[in-house]
Amino acid sequence: MLFEAIERRGTGTIKWDDVARRFGREGLVPLWVADMDFAVPAVIQEALAQRVEHPVYGYSVYDDRFFEAIQWWYAHRFGWRIEREWIVPDHGVVVSINTAITALTDVGDGIMIQTPIYPPFMTAVTSNNRSVIENRLHYDAGRYTIDWDDFEAKARDASMFLLCSPHNPTTRAWNADELHRMAEICHENDVVIVADEIHSDVVHGRTHVPIGMLPEAQAITLTLHAPSKTFNIAGLNQSYVIIPDPEIRTAYQKRFAQIGLPHGNPLSIAALTAAYSPKGVAWLEALLASLEANSVFVRTYLAEHLPQIVPVETEATFLMWLDCRALGLDDAELEHLFLDRAHLALNPGISFGAAGSGFMRLNIGTSRTQLSDALARLHAAVQGGER
Ligand SMILES: Cc1ncc(COP(=O)(O)O)c(C=O)c1O
Repeated sequence: MLFEAIERRGTGTIKWDDVARRFGREGLVPLWVADMDFAVPAVIQEALAQRVEHPVYGYSVYDDRFFEAIQWWYAHRFGWRIEREWIVPDHGVVVSINTAITALTDVGDGIMIQTPIYPPFMTAVTSNNRSVIENRLHYDAGRYTIDWDDFEAKARDASMFLLCSPHNPTTRAWNADELHRMAEICHENDVVIVADEIHSDVVHGRTHVPIGMLPEAQAITLTLHAPSKTFNIAGLNQSYVIIPDPEIRTAYQKRFAQIGLPHGNPLSIAALTAAYSPKGVAWLEALLASLEANSVFVRTYLAEHLPQIVPVETEATFLMWLDCRALGLDDAELEHLFLDRAHLALNPGISFGAAGSGFMRLNIGTSRTQLSDALARLHAAVQGGER
């Protein structure tokens, strides 16, 4: 059964309520920022309702159930038995990336990223006065792979590697061979791995391997994860970091103390604890099937009506990465086509770095009706008309 989108306008959501301001025009179909238009599983809403019923929302503790839920999730989903003390609760994965950079590297250090990349990776490096070392992904025949010679050469100059696994925006779910190879090279070159695995639950037809569970990576890896993308609770700002190595963990926590990071949020703690459960798993399986169906729908439509737009295989996430280069437009013209002529708000590929030029990122975590309307608008715009 397909997940249905629900009306979100008027709830203060960035995706819907801020789209006109951000894109500078009204009447856009919002298919951009990475949250979904689906209701969360009942188990989360019930847990929140129960917590809200008690009318005090004071400083809150990350209790046993919170840690056990994360340990259960990792054992159940990924076969990785993590120790309780490895888990450091946090308030967002981007916060963790910035904390890791400032805790574990020095000003001027080189930090490796794989482009095209989720923009905050780039800004986290530059805004903290570190230098970007770019390992540009290789794109061929609709698939992204790693340029290993380049990776190996660049790793020699890097202090840290910001891995995005699965990768946003290309949706690559790195396989075990690729992860082993990245881990080995980083290990040989004393490179700390910061693995943003926020999309690791939404993986299609394959199993996610947390790089931190590989023997050569465990002592040099910080694994960043959250229930936010998986369960559509990004606004609750609850994430966590898994840091097996005690020295790295201490350095990370020291930086937390310097920032004065707040205590837990009672609603976010309740939501994570409820989500990481058998009921959460059942909902996730249904979500994956629904996203898969949406992906097939978009692919089929494009192949039939807009063959100039070629979607990269969706290995993970609720995002599709569209190769629009056969339209023969530069990035400004491409944006004009989507925004001004088709009235669609997507993330332009160029915002993911020069390696994203000629691409657009489409969020398929929405209703079939909305996707269908969006594709018809796009088709009409490409044909030269407007709807
Ligand atoms: C790869 C990646 N990391 C991090 C985030 C944001 O995480 P948070 O809201 O926890 O900072 C996103 C959101 O789109 C993402 O795609």
